[in-house]
Amino acid sequence: MLCLGVESSCDETALALVEDGRLLHSVLATQADMHALFGGVVPELASREHYRYIGSLFDALMRRSGKRPSDIDLVAVARGPGLLGSLLVGVAFAKGLALGLGVRLLGVNHLHAHLLAVGLEHPLDFPALGLLVSGGHTHLYRMEAPWKCVTLGRTLDDAAGEAFDKVGKVLGLAYPGGRLMDALAREGKADGIAFPRPYLDNDNLDFSFSGLKTAASSYIQQALQPATWPRPLCSVDDAPQALKDCCAAFNAAVVDTLCVKTQRALDRNPQLSTVVLAGGVACNSLLRQRIADMMESRGGRALFPSPHLCTDNAAMIAYAGWLIGKEGYFHTLQMETIPRGRTVPDDMLCG
Ligand code: KG4
Ligand code: ZN
Repeated sequence: MLCLGVESSCDETALALVEDGRLLHSVLATQADMHALFGGVVPELASREHYRYIGSLFDALMRRSGKRPSDIDLVAVARGPGLLGSLLVGVAFAKGLALGLGVRLLGVNHLHAHLLAVGLEHPLDFPALGLLVSGGHTHLYRMEAPWKCVTLGRTLDDAAGEAFDKVGKVLGLAYPGGRLMDALAREGKADGIAFPRPYLDNDNLDFSFSGLKTAASSYIQQALQPATWPRPLCSVDDAPQALKDCCAAFNAAVVDTLCVKTQRALDRNPQLSTVVLAGGVACNSLLRQRIADMMESRGGRALFPSPHLCTDNAAMIAYAGWLIGKEGYFHTLQMETIPRGRTVPDDMLCG
């Protein structure tokens, strides 16, 4: 089965082909540089860029993969959550293509697709614990099947990546700051600054990062002088030691918090012996190391996708579409697009 995946939920326009569980080819146009000028994603500009590039990306995918549109058996599309205007570009494209080709359409939950992507590189057995940490989401899931991921916990306010990016902004780092903060943290000492480990003193699996973000921002304004280094700061070489130490302390606080709740989720779900890490923050080197160590000490497995599969991409949509579609699930052209803030409904048909 040849599945086309379409991704346009935020600021990457991406298309990919997965055949019988194997990635054939993928194409991606990122808008990161444009949004960096504004310090964050501008929704209206994002949807315009998707609209501008999606057609030519599809032509490029067909040309480079050596496939023809008539070879496609299933069109899978990220239906949400995400920016509504951006999602609608991909969903309208996918619906039109499925209708024109006379093939099935399948709307994929963008968040679940992040977690399933690891199956492109490693054998993925169910059930597993999924930790999704991205710019927009921080979720713990019990992954029971490709079409069934049960939410165990989620952030109540900022996502982990959002906290990185907002603190990065206060530090004067180029947007989005998470990756550079990770690199700076590797050269810093974490133990000099006691940032809080937020929202641990409770009995649940939810997260809250806004207090930590505020604590870090106040510390930076009081104790550091961000104006004394080049802005935007783009490289580790231009950074003073105090900045590296601050990043190390902040990074450690975020990672500790994520690990405590992951450990708690495993303790409460003893049938889960695999942890899948996904989303942009899954590229974080300390987080990977700590989750790997945790699973080694528990005698379980930690699965991490390669960095290009952690951030937004269409290979994950095509792969999730293939996994779910081969079981007979599909949507009609009435399928709704689900913006951020609403839960993606479980309304697939089967047959
Ligand atoms: O999954 P993603 O591409 O987009 C969303 O769907 O949100 O994740 C992007 C997020 C950004 O917040 C970025 O700063 C963060 O992932 N990020 C990192 C690292 N690499 C990317 N955060 C911490 N450490 C990293 N190495
Ligand atoms: Zn994403």
